[in-house]
Amino acid sequence: MAGPSSSVRPDCEGKRTRMIRFDGVSFSYPTPSGGIQALDDVDLTLSEGEYVVVLGENGSGKSTLVRLINGLLAPGAGEVTVDGFTTSAEADVWEIRRRVGMVFQNPDNQIVATFVEEDVAFGPENLGVPRDELRRRVTSALQAVGLEGFERREPHQLSGGQKQRLAIAGALAMEPDYLVLDEPTAMLDPQGRADVLGVLHRLRERGRCIVHVTHDLSDAAQADRVVVMRRGRIVFDGTPEELLGNAALLAEYGLTQPAIGVLAQSLRESGVDVPATALDVARVVNALWPSS
Ligand SMILES: Nc1ncnc2c1ncn2[C@@H]1O[C@H](COP(=O)(O)OP(=O)(O)O)[C@@H](O)[C@H]1O
Ligand SMILES: [Mg+2]
Repeated sequence: MAGPSSSVRPDCEGKRTRMIRFDGVSFSYPTPSGGIQALDDVDLTLSEGEYVVVLGENGSGKSTLVRLINGLLAPGAGEVTVDGFTTSAEADVWEIRRRVGMVFQNPDNQIVATFVEEDVAFGPENLGVPRDELRRRVTSALQAVGLEGFERREPHQLSGGQKQRLAIAGALAMEPDYLVLDEPTAMLDPQGRADVLGVLHRLRERGRCIVHVTHDLSDAAQADRVVVMRRGRIVFDGTPEELLGNAALLAEYGLTQPAIGVLAQSLRESGVDVPATALDVARVVNALWPSS
């Protein structure tokens, strides 16, 4: 991870083999009535250095996709590889989990220790990272999420947003090559949400590879790339501008525009130059009155 004095870590650069790759992947959950197909023939490549937002309405298969990335689930058909390691081989899964940091929706389920610093140290400590290095990683990870000074606080006293930033710090302390977050802001209040998004954008600026899964359209505005899932398939793969400016497409994918997006859309229709990615008040105001 990029510490305060180091420059961007080279994880996301260079060799072509560095990628998360889905090749013809299908997956069904077994049920008494014969199974629910959650993924249907998915091909997807997530490359180094990208900030990819994966969108889709509830039940579209996003969490299944995430669980397949780090081998929590094994594909029924096809193959998932991370930097060439396959989730289908048990021996590779350990290596994959070292490379892919995961953050889930509920921050309370991700806390394992009594103090913030112990919680961040938990993963790397289990890997046998030596003491000095451990200290450096904890300091650096807490700094990356804006929780410096919280080392001796008890996680249960933190706000939802702070807990989720703690979970991100815990993932970062493992120094993963990819950070995959499954609806990390879904349970947070607006401030917590804004803080977590701010952390993700800072990480992205440092060259961090981020896969951000969400059903919230406004999270997509600042992504490099947006992938939309619907009924277990990838139905869109493009830029935020291409998707967010197309109300018909959004409706087709079951994605709801936030109120500010509806307003921006009707401003656009009456000839006002508001970009499709202006999905929060500040950006709409800025489009209307650039100097304010
Ligand atoms: N553990 C499970 N057992 C059976 N069906 C599941 C399970 N988890 C998810 N599903 C089903 O798989 C489909 C995709 O779910 P999921 O990947 O959780 O979608 P999303 O994260 O986009 O809401 C849905 O139809 C869902 O009901
Ligand atoms: Mg989900």
